Amino acid sequence: MEKKDLDWANLGFGYIKTDKRYVSNYKNGAWDDGALVDDANIVLNECAGVFQYAQTVFEGLKAYTTEDGHIVCFRPDLNASRLADSARRLEMPVFPEDRFVDAIVELVKANAAYVPPYGSGATLYVRPYMMGTNPVIGVKPADEYQFRAFVTPVGPYFKGGAKPLTIRVSDFDRAAPNGTGMIKAGLNYAMSLHAIVTAHADGYDENMYLDPKTRTKVEETGGANFIFITKDGKFVTPKSDSILPSITRRSLMYVAEHYLGMEVEHREVYFDELKDFAEAGLCGTAAVISPVGKIVDHGKEICFPSGMTEMGPVIKKLYDTLTGIQMGRIEAPEGWIKTIC
Ligand code: PLP
Ligand code: COI
Repeated sequence: MEKKDLDWANLGFGYIKTDKRYVSNYKNGAWDDGALVDDANIVLNECAGVFQYAQTVFEGLKAYTTEDGHIVCFRPDLNASRLADSARRLEMPVFPEDRFVDAIVELVKANAAYVPPYGSGATLYVRPYMMGTNPVIGVKPADEYQFRAFVTPVGPYFKGGAKPLTIRVSDFDRAAPNGTGMIKAGLNYAMSLHAIVTAHADGYDENMYLDPKTRTKVEETGGANFIFITKDGKFVTPKSDSILPSITRRSLMYVAEHYLGMEVEHREVYFDELKDFAEAGLCGTAAVISPVGKIVDHGKEICFPSGMTEMGPVIKKLYDTLTGIQMGRIEAPEGWIKTIC
């Protein structure tokens, strides 16, 4: 298979139309067989549930070319179960988890020419999603749904690559107490758009959201969980029922403990503790692990000792180990890598 002629090393995090996408429709209480299709456009009724009441949930995962030339993806079973959790929370039917994984395999295989070569620094981002498709005007769940997945080759999510980020504490909340912060629903991202646009306009890379109830604890950013390293080398990451259970963060907790022999604390993290950490980072499928150099709270700066020029040493070790597992340089825990071809 011949690869597409793309400038792999200079890709940003954007959309590039590829050859095939996967579509399955839900009607009369059942999903159809699903198929790969060519058309990247969707035609829906003007009153579809997704347009009126934002009944849509999504996922994000990546496919990689490994050192030995295979194409793999990372823990797609966890994306399948998280999409199921998201769907249940928005009263949508669950797309069967085994079919989710099969669809991703089929989709990536059909777009293999777009999977960036090993060592290029780029990866293939996979975006599965679901939406209510039939007309809904009273506030209620739709009866008909579509599950889709497309792929797009991507480079780093943050423009500077591995350069430490500057993050500000947001005055806006990302999630309500007892709300939908723990699911991957479009509505959580719509309400973060004003916060991210104004953060960028003010010169910050991202927002740190605090817990919506007390505004004393660290939650996450608009698209990634936080990780922190203490001065004595412990791995600390916020626990909250209003943040997205990041698959990258859950994987890093295992890597920190079992590959790097670190003590791992998954617990509430108070904002007041931040000044005592040695290193900080964001983690997620898109963010991978992006170092954080500085957090700004209304003009008051918290500067991590790891500085503003490169990743701190412990975060670098976590980054090398995780990406080593994803790209086949380091043996993965049982079940983490799904070989596609
Ligand atoms: N938090 C939010 C709000 C996200 O959108 C994402 C991205 O998926 C993450 C965290 C990271 O999750 P994951 O590691 O599963 O990609
Ligand atoms: C992901 O990491 O997959 C996400 O969905 C985050 C988004 C900000 C791109």
